[in-house]
Amino acid sequence: MLLFRANIAHFPHATVNFGDDIQVIQDGGLVVEGGKIVAIGDYAQMRRTYPDAELNDHSGCWILPGLIDSHLHYPQTQSIASYGDQLLSWLENYTFPTEMQFSDLSHAQKVASVFIQQLVKNGTTTGLVFSTVHKEACDALFTAASQLDMALIAGKVCMDRNCPEELRDCPTSAQKDSAALIDRWHNQGRNRYAITPRFAPTSTEAQMASLGELAQQYQDVYIQTHLSENVDEINWVKSLYPNATGYLDVYDQYHMVRERAVFGHCVHLTNDEWQRMADTGATVAFCPSSNLFLGSGLFDNAIAKQYKVPVALATDVGAGTSFSMFSTYGEAYKISQLNKQPICPLEGFYMMTQGAAIAHQWDDHIGNLNSGTDADFIIVSPRYCELTSLRIEEHASFSDMFFALSILGAQRAVKQTWISGRCCYENKENNHAMA
Ligand code: GUN
Ligand code: ZN
Repeated sequence: MLLFRANIAHFPHATVNFGDDIQVIQDGGLVVEGGKIVAIGDYAQMRRTYPDAELNDHSGCWILPGLIDSHLHYPQTQSIASYGDQLLSWLENYTFPTEMQFSDLSHAQKVASVFIQQLVKNGTTTGLVFSTVHKEACDALFTAASQLDMALIAGKVCMDRNCPEELRDCPTSAQKDSAALIDRWHNQGRNRYAITPRFAPTSTEAQMASLGELAQQYQDVYIQTHLSENVDEINWVKSLYPNATGYLDVYDQYHMVRERAVFGHCVHLTNDEWQRMADTGATVAFCPSSNLFLGSGLFDNAIAKQYKVPVALATDVGAGTSFSMFSTYGEAYKISQLNKQPICPLEGFYMMTQGAAIAHQWDDHIGNLNSGTDADFIIVSPRYCELTSLRIEEHASFSDMFFALSILGAQRAVKQTWISGRCCYENKENNHAMA
């Protein structure tokens, strides 16, 4: 049994009241055993209740739930930060050539390993991840995540048109391969599967129909795809699907708009589409650094709130420019400033922890530090350099500390990442908690 000592912050309840519902414990104690959180409270009280627990003293640091990245692409670890295009030419010029290399299993294994390493270095303990079209590349990802007992949601990309021949499956093989991956990985250990049509333009109606059948057959499986990211993309979808009333309706016609369906971007939804998202319980993955990088547009978080559609934050690596969820909130904040509706730090924190976990119906295991949940958490040491020691006071509020780290780029602030009660990353250079 381990007892961690540090300040603690998390959202213990299913909540949307960011001001009041966060639990902040100064000099807190978190008790961990057998991969689970056993208890949380004041350090002194935890010490008295669990006198035999081995102490891990991180006084002056913060314990936060492991972060959740709700949309990203593992093959694009290799093409992140490629210059110059908007969505459709960027896919042609960088993404598809990169993904072609994943027909080679050893290449996929190598990138999967780097990818998982990037997640844990940045404090991300759960991702909703797109693989490539190759089913073995998806196996490689789940295998790498399983080695850390990571709670991962992932899927094989399906596409059968408007992409290079080498990256195409077909309606039958997309259904068969996805079903085989569901049988192999969904609910095996902490893995979960997401049916993954890349986006409407790269699937024929026949493929959408076959994936829709699968979605109906497996009601508890996730669905992940892209939606209304870019204006040219939306016009293209209209020409490819003349019978649909709009972009969301393409997915809706094939039973893929529902709870556990996570739509990346949603920058240009109509009011009717927002209403439909709300009525069906679907989730938005807001990808701010990607939207800025590809010049896609400014996501309107206020309208999502107005329609009560859950919004989870996401990096969208590799159109997204960082694996850090802290930085991703920093970019979300800037977008929200341009919209004159700033997203406050607590809302940002909610969208990468408890809010995301609730949207993905997984908050009984991840996203918070309640007793009985899985021991996925991070130790953050905010005052790790001269600048952050100067800017962030020793007794700074959680909100101010989190905001400053998010704006300043906080990868080095992550001191340790714990998954299922095991330390799977330690930044040995960051030992400045008391500085
Ligand atoms: N739309 C379809 N595929 C992709 C992708 O890989 N990245 C982004 N940002 N948008 C997409
Ligand atoms: Zn994406």
